[in-house]
Amino acid sequence: MARRKKIYEGKAKIMYEGPEPGTLVQYFKDDATAFNAEKRAKVEGKGVLNNRLSEFFMKGLTQIGVPNHFIKRLNMREQLVRSVEIIPLEVVVRNFAAGSLSARLGMAEGTPLPRPIVEFCLKDDALGDPLVSEEHICAFGWATQQDLDDMISLALRVNDFMSGLMLAVGIKLVDFKIEIGRIWENDFQRLIVADEISPDSCRLWDIETGQKLDKDVFRRDLGNLTDAYTEVARRLGVLPSNVTHAPRPTLIN
Ligand SMILES: Nc1ncnc2c1ncn2[C@@H]1O[C@H](COP(=O)(O)OP(=O)(O)OP(=O)(O)O)[C@@H](O)[C@H]1O
Ligand SMILES: [Mg+2]
Repeated sequence: MARRKKIYEGKAKIMYEGPEPGTLVQYFKDDATAFNAEKRAKVEGKGVLNNRLSEFFMKGLTQIGVPNHFIKRLNMREQLVRSVEIIPLEVVVRNFAAGSLSARLGMAEGTPLPRPIVEFCLKDDALGDPLVSEEHICAFGWATQQDLDDMISLALRVNDFMSGLMLAVGIKLVDFKIEIGRIWENDFQRLIVADEISPDSCRLWDIETGQKLDKDVFRRDLGNLTDAYTEVARRLGVLPSNVTHAPRPTLIN
């Protein structure tokens, strides 16, 4: 079989040229990174879980009319997506204080916010993805005011959808980030949700116990990341049936 052209290899995924123009194959790796890739590890099974979970969330978004890049899952680690021009911003939605917002504003993690707060960070690893204002975004031309309005409304729709989905399985959606891209249909430009939606890009806490079920498990050394993601997938009913997680060795006295 002819080798596919690799378009980009990032920290968590590889993008290959797709079978048709305007498509890409998104391959989910097992690599986990945190703190701007200062901390990294291979987490067996993470890529398979994120491929399934991102498929599940994107399909649900399609069903409620939120446009996104997902076309179809190809295999355990790959999905076919529409190629977009990524807007160089991470769009963060927060429902409860956590992470950098807690650190910056001295707010205890878990404090409910008065309303969902949308933040933008510039996608620039060298600068550590700094928080930027709408003023910066428009002045420097990363997006227009119209793009910003569309991005906020997409992000809030994703938030309502994801919050409800998670609530139904006893999980609190604390915050998440998405990436958004441009596609052209004839002469019209449209913004759609791209990249991935998975426990790598969300904060998910068990409603009863507060147990973390997201990438903070890796960032803060709180246990086994695959177990946490498997629990999310199990609750949502999307656990891949053909993946068996090898039992971990048990100590025999
Ligand atoms: N539909 C799409 N079309 C084009 N590019 C996409 C699409 N979906 C995601 N991407 C881009 O593909 C890359 C996915 O790789 P990955 O998430 O591993 O990158 P990363 O290491 O997080 O780096 P960065 O996001 O800063 O480029 C990202 O750069 C993302 O912006
Ligand atoms: Mg990424």
